[in-house]
Amino acid sequence: MAAIVAEKLTKVFNGFKAVNEVSFEVKEGEIFGFLGPNGAGKTTTINMLITLMKPTSGHALVAGYDVVKEPEKVRGKIGVVFQDQSIDRELTGWENLWLHGLVYGVPRSTLRQRIRQLLKLVELEGFANTPVKKYSGGMIRRLEIARALIHRPEILFLDEPTLGLDPQSRAKVWDYILDLRKEHGMTIFLTTHYIEEAERLCDRVAIIDHGKIIALGSPEELKQSIGGELIYLKVSENPSLYSAFLEKLSDIQGVLSVKTLGNRQLSLRVKSASTTIPAIFDLAQAAGVKISEIKYTKPSLNDVFLQLTGRALRDEEASWRDHARLRTQARWRR
Ligand SMILES: Nc1ncnc2c1ncn2[C@@H]1O[C@H](COP(=O)(O)OP(=O)(O)OP(=O)(O)O)[C@@H](O)[C@H]1O
Ligand SMILES: [Mg+2]
Repeated sequence: MAAIVAEKLTKVFNGFKAVNEVSFEVKEGEIFGFLGPNGAGKTTTINMLITLMKPTSGHALVAGYDVVKEPEKVRGKIGVVFQDQSIDRELTGWENLWLHGLVYGVPRSTLRQRIRQLLKLVELEGFANTPVKKYSGGMIRRLEIARALIHRPEILFLDEPTLGLDPQSRAKVWDYILDLRKEHGMTIFLTTHYIEEAERLCDRVAIIDHGKIIALGSPEELKQSIGGELIYLKVSENPSLYSAFLEKLSDIQGVLSVKTLGNRQLSLRVKSASTTIPAIFDLAQAAGVKISEIKYTKPSLNDVFLQLTGRALRDEEASWRDHARLRTQARWRR
């Protein structure tokens, strides 16, 4: 049985389609990711799957239960880490987990032991009795993950699990996520706009943009789908020679496409970099153009996004926005 099935799931806000006929299946024990830019519809999709929001149309089953007809059943099977911090900052880590456990009906006799295990899992044993307001952002995220696991859910939903975290905290959260799958076979649905996160964690990724899934597959499959390898070139020579060179580039065998990036920089998509690079040098020499820089890479998920949408899905920019956003949240809480 699939852990999650979504069929033409749609959410319309005042005539605006935030999620537009999204269909996918998540297998049991799989880490499945939604990768997309700000406003793509990731949180809205999660909200429908975790029964916080009713779909405008379409259907979804989570752990075999219909999210609209059997929301309580669904809730008993899932754990959720929300995009925005949702922990009580005045309480200690231990108190937060204790309260959450009681809300979920975990018997007191097992709750104490379970909290101990979970705090150990996320390496917060030493901070159990510290008020959360003294935690760092990374520690809060780890506590939220522990909290989501308190009733032993079958499926864990993580909405931007490492939003705005520093690289070290991010790596820790990644470790826990991979461990949960490995040790407990947990199914994990996560959203992210970090390419590296999707590549590292996900067995399969759905790329979402403007409420639609525009590609779906393993990171490897997605990268292969755009075909070939990428060569970046920088040339230095006079403009007239350059344009003649540019024209002939796409005639080289194995060159699939040529994009000019300005400032005499070019990106080429080619079948095989190792056979095309010598031909590029030959052509440059014949045209009297000097190549000042050349490098080649295998495509990343960013290249996949670029290919499909014509826009980049950049990590750095997003991460600055997240910092600003988290700081605003922190100010509100004071
Ligand atoms: N309650 C709401 N009412 C109206 N519009 C909404 C509501 N919630 C979300 N939207 C809009 O729907 C679109 C998708 O929002 P959503 O939060 O799902 O995106 P996201 O992919 O999670 O983005 P982010 O990276 O910013 O978290 C956005 O344009 C957003 O402004
Ligand atoms: Mg979101």
